[in-house]
Amino acid sequence: MAIYYQEIENEIALFQRCYNLKLPLLIKGPTGCGKSQFVTAMAERFNRQLVKVSCNEDTTASDLIGRFLLKNQETVWQDGPVTRAIRIGAFLYLDEVAEAREDVIVALHSITDHRRELYIDRTNETLKAPSDFFCIASYNPGYQRGLKDLKPSTRQRFVTISFNYPSADTEKKILISLTGIEIKHADSLVRMANGIRAQTHMGLRETVSTRLLVNASYLINSGMNPHEASMVAIAEVLTDDLKTLDALRQLISFSF
Ligand SMILES: Nc1ncnc2c1ncn2[C@@H]1O[C@H](COP(=O)(O)OP(=O)(O)O)[C@@H](O)[C@H]1O
Ligand SMILES: [Mg+2]
Repeated sequence: MAIYYQEIENEIALFQRCYNLKLPLLIKGPTGCGKSQFVTAMAERFNRQLVKVSCNEDTTASDLIGRFLLKNQETVWQDGPVTRAIRIGAFLYLDEVAEAREDVIVALHSITDHRRELYIDRTNETLKAPSDFFCIASYNPGYQRGLKDLKPSTRQRFVTISFNYPSADTEKKILISLTGIEIKHADSLVRMANGIRAQTHMGLRETVSTRLLVNASYLINSGMNPHEASMVAIAEVLTDDLKTLDALRQLISFSF
């Protein structure tokens, strides 16, 4: 099935260029702005398997590279997702890469620079990446708030592109294409989203993403009252604070 992806700003050409040149790509952007959708669509477009790794602070180098397992009283080597991606020449997507510990990321440095190889110390094997192999990482700068920044030596291995919420017209198009929502409702949702996005003083940890609008659109399209749908798909998702919730309720009321 073809993945629907609406290009925002020439990112497909940049992806293609980086892929051709074997320059790893880092995608920065807030949650729900289309990073994963983009990478999934690119894997499909270039006909490569996508190996996605969701990084977190408990991720170890062995989780990514592989480990020896005991099987019928024998120890057998089992590739981790990174090793597998290299072997099969896949697209490797390191999602939320800044969440992983530094030493884990450093273990992947040789695969993200000109060497394009992975040294597996447990098996004393050096794996050369085939030309189809490509590494993409994502990172949410707002969310990490500088606490978990990527090391410069990691960052400088990646060509970096910033994603943000699409323009109103593009975002409407995305909602309509994905969910079939009526134009007038899509219009109200996007206008409301941009209203909320402009309220920077609200102290929301993250603001309305395209993902939340997609969810609200599905609810509205299934017959739910738009105001109610926006409350549960957007307002309640963004905050637990009653005052903020009230302010969001008002903004939603203005739009519908
Ligand atoms: N440019 C886009 N084209 C198509 N769908 C998009 C786009 N941007 C966002 N979406 C939709 O928004 C939702 C969240 O996108 P996702 O890629 O998961 O966000 P991220 O990985 O940045 O957190 C998905 O349902 C996706 O379909
Ligand atoms: Mg994602």
